[in-house]
Amino acid sequence: MYRIAVIPGDGTGPEVVAEGLKVLGKISERFQIRFEFKEFDYGGDRYLKTGEVLPEGAAKELETFNAIYLGAIGHPQVKPGILETGILLKLRFTLDQYINLRPVKLYPNVETPLANKGPEEIDFVVVRENTEGLYAGIGGFLKKGTPDEVAIQEMIATRKGVERCIRYAFEYTRRRNKRKKLTLCAKTNVLTYAHDLWMRAFTEVAAEYSDIENDYAHVDATTMWMVKNPEWFDVIVTTNMFGDIITDLGAMIQGGMGVAAGGNINPEGVSMFEPIGGSAPKYTGLGQINPIAAIFAVQMMLQTLGEDKAAEVLERSLMDTIARLKSMSAGQMGYSTSEVGDMVAGGI
Ligand code: IPM
Ligand code: MN
Repeated sequence: MYRIAVIPGDGTGPEVVAEGLKVLGKISERFQIRFEFKEFDYGGDRYLKTGEVLPEGAAKELETFNAIYLGAIGHPQVKPGILETGILLKLRFTLDQYINLRPVKLYPNVETPLANKGPEEIDFVVVRENTEGLYAGIGGFLKKGTPDEVAIQEMIATRKGVERCIRYAFEYTRRRNKRKKLTLCAKTNVLTYAHDLWMRAFTEVAAEYSDIENDYAHVDATTMWMVKNPEWFDVIVTTNMFGDIITDLGAMIQGGMGVAAGGNINPEGVSMFEPIGGSAPKYTGLGQINPIAAIFAVQMMLQTLGEDKAAEVLERSLMDTIARLKSMSAGQMGYSTSEVGDMVAGGI
């Protein structure tokens, strides 16, 4: 039996999570896997009511679950940064989910803005470092609000943090067993300290993986290749900030925020799975948001739990459903949010 913590969150989060849970219910029946769910009300509404982002001991409790399923964090009435750092980043850091795994895969019948590129060309995975870099939250103000103001935001690269991420990426590339190519995406020509450390760690670890081809691309060039020659990539390993940026580009070339999912992984602890699209407040309550990304997050969760057969069947059902949708965009699918969830559940 798996105990799953569910954080539906803000905006359309609860709507898409409901579809993910519907599908998980079907998986449970078909594969005789038992799930027990506990819901947590973390998010903007709770914060506005109580003034508290995460209660004391939240991470401690979440640590006791087998996985966490998250909808979306972000509320139009809350100043940007409060919920993001107080909930999402706080959980990633305290639960030491040091990998953010983001597949960029174009499925058949999904439209991509890239001309002359199809599912054959767009199929790679970004391994984003998830606990350091510019996200570490180190810095401060001097003379804030005056003409002499100084703001400092530091980029952190620890040898331990970088190396464990790189090792995970090499292992992942080997397990994926596709082109067996790992590309480091950084900016060694400008970030001559932090990314020098990344480069050295990458080169040293690469020597232990002679079966994996290793490659390097600066982040600016990476965005260019992602558009021009996405087929060059198999697995990309990168820093927290660069990974954030290139995976939004990745989401666009794989058909949009309606499809893109990610896993915040602690290989030795509890991992958290989420659609990467955000809370989409303008679609809240309309039944028009696309739940496919949230259901892909469930598929990644099953994979990480080691339920490979269930994950495979779910991926196939997702593909069949996608083939029937008019579009992957909210409000243009030709079906409601719950109808799309029904279709995926029906294929299991
Ligand atoms: C993401 C999001 C978050 C990030 C925000 C909401 C803090 O953009 O998951 O990519 O920057 O990591
Ligand atoms: Mn992002």
